[in-house]
Amino acid sequence: MKELQQKVKDEGVVIAGSVLKVDAFLNHQIDAQLMKKVADHFYEHFKNKGVTKILTIEASGIAPSIMAALAFNVPCLFAKKAVPSTLTEEVYTTDIHSYTKNKTSHVVISQKFLSAEDKVLIIDDFLANGEAALGLYDLVKQAGADCIGIGIVIEKSFQPGADRLKSEGLDVLSLCRIASLEGDKVTLIGEEE
Ligand code: G4P
Ligand code: NA
Ligand code: NA
Repeated sequence: MKELQQKVKDEGVVIAGSVLKVDAFLNHQIDAQLMKKVADHFYEHFKNKGVTKILTIEASGIAPSIMAALAFNVPCLFAKKAVPSTLTEEVYTTDIHSYTKNKTSHVVISQKFLSAEDKVLIIDDFLANGEAALGLYDLVKQAGADCIGIGIVIEKSFQPGADRLKSEGLDVLSLCRIASLEGDKVTLIGEEE
């Protein structure tokens, strides 16, 4: 997705050669028009798969996911990283370890919002090691639902996440794929020397 890739190059800030800060349009301030176009790309790719639900994880996955939910005309469900006191019904849970943040989150969704009839499109802002996406996939499997694919806004292709998901047989669509952040410079797939 050209416009997203240009935005990443123009406004992304590389931190310590491995983390890309995209606070200008995705992780802090959100560019709604860009998120709508992101969602339209997910829709174009997955529209014939019978999607009944978008699944993501709070917080940063919600922006692209709510736009996708609008495009597919289905609900957006987000996994919560802490068990809220208001969540009193039965839940599916899984542990997601973040290497970036060196922290494990015990994430939950209510069983009443995901069932064996669902065809789920998982969406997230970043794909790095794949822990978040694999955790969401685990929740889908616990519900007996189908995961029809995974939509990612920014993939750090130099990390193992995409390969891990593909080796599970999942259809992964990443709209911006980063080959390297070395030298604090964004190099996209296809731009390598
Ligand atoms: P993984 O899920 O692919 O294994 O990624 P990892 O554990 O490395 O990353 C954990 C968190 O950091 C995730 O957000 C993920 O989206 C984000 N992340 C990973 N690499 C980058 C990066 O280069 N730049 C930015 N901006 N984020 C990155 P999270 O913990 O779920 O937090 P939230 O922001 O969604 O609340
Ligand atoms: Na994030
Ligand atoms: Na995320």
